[in-house]
Amino acid sequence: MIIRTLIIAFSLGFGSLGSVSADDTEGAKLYKRCSACHLPTGKGVPGAFPPLKNSLSAFYGTPEGRSYLTMVVAKGLNGPIDVGGVTYRGFMPAQGSALKDKGIASVLNYILLEFHDNGAEYALFTEAEVKTVKAESSGVKARDLSKKRRDLMPVKAGE
Ligand code: HEC
Repeated sequence: MIIRTLIIAFSLGFGSLGSVSADDTEGAKLYKRCSACHLPTGKGVPGAFPPLKNSLSAFYGTPEGRSYLTMVVAKGLNGPIDVGGVTYRGFMPAQGSALKDKGIASVLNYILLEFHDNGAEYALFTEAEVKTVKAESSGVKARDLSKKRRDLMPVKAGE
């Protein structure tokens, strides 16, 4: 009996040692909505679907950058953006009505935890943060966000 209890305790403990928390599982599930375009690896398709892997770190650490990411998922994105020297003139459909505030936070956390490995630590997204961004950006449209991205991350010459 003691041994059985120990085994159960060990397997529970072992499970929580991994990086998957309850919220990550939700984010992983929701990311399936995105992976058709951005691919399961987050590497995207050059010229068609931009990468989410290792290209968003500059946004995670500032309120404006976090607001940009939240708005893109909620409202979609339409208009030219430059990512790593490749121009995308695509159209991303809004995901907000399907995901809701909590889902947007979960999927952004999935991308943050899985796809960025520059070693920096960033705060996780919360439902409350998403709610605030949405309330403050009610007039912002998908086509406004490509300019917002250029303001946040000016393309450097030669990039
Ligand atoms: C139908 C294809 C498609 C789906 C589904 C999709 N995206 Fe996108 N996504 C795009 C395209 C295309 C762009 C670039 C749009 C442009 O060129 O203006 C983009 C841009 C982005 C960007 C901005 C990247 C940057 O460097 O600024 C983020 C963040 C993003 N998507 C996250 C997501 C997330 C999270 C999901 C799932 C909830 C998702 N996308 C679902 C096609 C898609």
